[in-house]
Amino acid sequence: MEDNGSHWPLNVAGFEALAQKKLSKDAFDHAAGGADDELTLQENLAAFRRIKITPHVLEDVSERRLETEVLGQRLAFPVILAPVSCLRRFHPEGELAAARAAAGTGVLCALSTGSCYPLEEVARAAPGSVWFQLYAYNDREFTRNLVQRAEAAGYRALCLTVDVPLSGRRERDLRNQYIYPPELLRTSMMNVGFTREQIDQHVNDLLPFVAQALTVRLTWPYLDWLRSITNLPILLKGILSKADARQAVACGVQGIVVSNHGGRQLDCAPASIDVLPEIANAVQGQVEILIDGGVRRGSDVVKALALGAKAVLVGRPYVWALAVEGQRGVERVLTMLRDELDLALALTGCSCVAKIDSSLIWRSS
Ligand SMILES: Cc1cc2nc3c(=O)[nH]c(=O)nc-3n(C[C@H](O)[C@H](O)[C@H](O)COP(=O)(O)O)c2cc1C
Repeated sequence: MEDNGSHWPLNVAGFEALAQKKLSKDAFDHAAGGADDELTLQENLAAFRRIKITPHVLEDVSERRLETEVLGQRLAFPVILAPVSCLRRFHPEGELAAARAAAGTGVLCALSTGSCYPLEEVARAAPGSVWFQLYAYNDREFTRNLVQRAEAAGYRALCLTVDVPLSGRRERDLRNQYIYPPELLRTSMMNVGFTREQIDQHVNDLLPFVAQALTVRLTWPYLDWLRSITNLPILLKGILSKADARQAVACGVQGIVVSNHGGRQLDCAPASIDVLPEIANAVQGQVEILIDGGVRRGSDVVKALALGAKAVLVGRPYVWALAVEGQRGVERVLTMLRDELDLALALTGCSCVAKIDSSLIWRSS
């Protein structure tokens, strides 16, 4: 890929097309796909497209400021890399490349529990720019150890994923007989704290073994325990209802991620962007609200902020870029989204992201 930019894709869809050429069919489908009929996956994209923006004109937009703060941390622009497990499936430098790209562009990377690199190594690659996404294990000591390692390594927040009591049924994976590359699965298991003996014992059924180790009994009181073992701010990822958002506030977490897991869990769940306004209204600014699912353009970031989010997370867009060109690819897709957002600000009459509000959302009268 040329550095003068002439050969880079023009947009996220261009990265997706290149990634599809580069990756094996089963690896591409694994990332691209969703649960069951993929209704929610499609709806995430369609819902953003349905929303129209009414620009304000004759505002001075000669200078534009894109920076924002999330949980007290400064972001050069309001985009965060979503946790994606086992990034080494898509590029040998996987999580290291993603975290470095986030740090290099002034944003954050949420590292998945299913990382193929040890969490300490990723934190060293991007000091101060990483959050840790937590999947809760049945064994609380195991979970405590993981959380305390993340805190000691310098992660700035814990993002507890709450929408995976069981994994969604991903039919593309079933059709392709997709398997996690066994070596990478072993590595990621070692990284979270499974012993070599445990892994060897379950060598023929590693994935079911991991699935069994993860708790399906994650309930609200668990949050009291989690808060008691860490000083890190906690976000709940996977909130889709007003009631759950209010309960999150009552439980004393610092943030929520409005998310349907990129359409990979409950098919028929609503698009995240469609439920964002009611959740923002219910929460009344008591916790920070982030959103993911279907963000593909800078104008999507404007829509999300106008409807109540502080920042967005992107998943597949950076997976494609990582597959295409590693760290440079992820940097490119991030700066592309930043530049699209910058232009969208100018064209909507906003000189900074704080000026984005619901008056930008077009409503038919
Ligand atoms: C291949 C893949 C793996 C993922 N792994 C995780 C994970 O380990 N933990 C998690 O909380 N979310 C995971 N997600 C969900 C993302 O964090 C995010 O919610 C979703 O990708 C956002 O939608 P988008 O891809 O349309 O941007 C994964 C998503 C994909 C595509």
